[in-house]
Amino acid sequence: MEKLVSLCQRRGFIFPSSDIYGGLSSCWDYGPVGVELKRNVKEAWWRANVRDRDDMVGLDTSILMNPRVWEASGHVTAFSDPLVECKKCHQRFRADDLPPEAEGKCPNCGGDFTEPQQFNLMFKTFIGPVEDAASVVYLRPETAQGIFVNFANVLNTSRKRLPFGIAQIGKSFRNEITTGNFIFRSREFEQMEIEYFVRPGTDDEWFAYWTNERLKFYGSLGIRKENLRLRQHGQDELAHYSRCCSDIEYNFPMGWAELEGIANRGDYDLKQHMEYSGKGLTYLDEATNQHIVPYVIEPSAGVDRTVLAVLCDAYDEEPDKDEIRVLFHFHPDVAPVKVAVLPLSRKENLAACAKDVYASLRPCFATQYDDTQSIGRRYRRQDELGTPYCVTVDFQSLEDNMATIRERDTMNQIRVPTAALADTLAKKLAGEDILVLPEGGVIWKEETKGG
Ligand code: GAP
Repeated sequence: MEKLVSLCQRRGFIFPSSDIYGGLSSCWDYGPVGVELKRNVKEAWWRANVRDRDDMVGLDTSILMNPRVWEASGHVTAFSDPLVECKKCHQRFRADDLPPEAEGKCPNCGGDFTEPQQFNLMFKTFIGPVEDAASVVYLRPETAQGIFVNFANVLNTSRKRLPFGIAQIGKSFRNEITTGNFIFRSREFEQMEIEYFVRPGTDDEWFAYWTNERLKFYGSLGIRKENLRLRQHGQDELAHYSRCCSDIEYNFPMGWAELEGIANRGDYDLKQHMEYSGKGLTYLDEATNQHIVPYVIEPSAGVDRTVLAVLCDAYDEEPDKDEIRVLFHFHPDVAPVKVAVLPLSRKENLAACAKDVYASLRPCFATQYDDTQSIGRRYRRQDELGTPYCVTVDFQSLEDNMATIRERDTMNQIRVPTAALADTLAKKLAGEDILVLPEGGVIWKEETKGG
């Protein structure tokens, strides 16, 4: 994890928040490359769960909501963790998350703890200019409630029939007692949540369906199967709204831990909001002409945890002559930079040719132009960014209008006409095996490799 954190900082993936002021505990900023990676993860999720499906619509609801929402949802009374304080050093810990080797004593100084107290994880603030009890609002601790309170709005405007889902990506906030492991657990994070509404009685099969879909999704991001597993919650672990729940866990450097929770929330939320708001949140079942309260299957994923899993899974170190090559084997869909254009030298005529190549590729892919330092160094830099393909323009390119495509994982090179670059790269990024090179293309031999 330490190596990953330092590489992420060095290459502009993720920085500590407010870095010049010494940071703020467990808050992180995504840098120029990290923001692209994160956007790609969110876009892949949105495409798979909203755009490519007929039974799903999206939403983008506000972070601040009427505080009654959180009374109805149970978060005001039940969204808490047990907090203990060391009587000697006064450090605070989550009582249910103490390392077993501490044997109930303070892991910091060995001191005794106070009795556990329930600590509510919601951040409070005030709405408007008066800071009194009547103006208290919360920063949402999950995006899900924005979906439930809009159930009738969506139903009335989209005319969806059961089963159907509503999806949302957005920031959530939790005043976690203990944070850490880089972006794994922070106090400000992003969630990608689906509330999938089904007929009561069909919930078990939809639960199984979504568990499978969600596992497939992580595979589509390039995460290896052997690093994913499913863990069913015991009855004593279930959240207050949950009838059953399974976690998709990832084998992070600190061990197996939750990447996503898939819960059967039953009719808990719609019923609670009906009771607290006095509004009808039922569905008119066309088959029986009866109003029913749908059950809900909720696949709830963390954007930051998915980014961390993608980073961990793609990180690699390989011996390379006397050195070590560090690289990310990102799946092309999530790679922050897809193609880098590297002129062999900064000489004017070569730069002009390389800039033309760059201009032709930039509208098609996230493309970088890099002409600083030696070609070897630039390849290494792109490896550390996880760029799947580098296009090298050399002096021969000026004569034969060809450029070299260098593959990140194998370091193999092919030489193709510049006019065929965009098409060839598009096919390669889509995972097509290029068995037949474009007309005039050649395998670029080891001894003729530039740089
Ligand atoms: N609406 C259900 C819900 O919020 P959850 O298991 O508490 O369920 C869902 O959270 C996902 O949100 C988790 O699996 C995790 O990926 C992410 N998540 C939760 N708390 C987090 C935190 N403090 N930091 C980063 N991600 C977090």
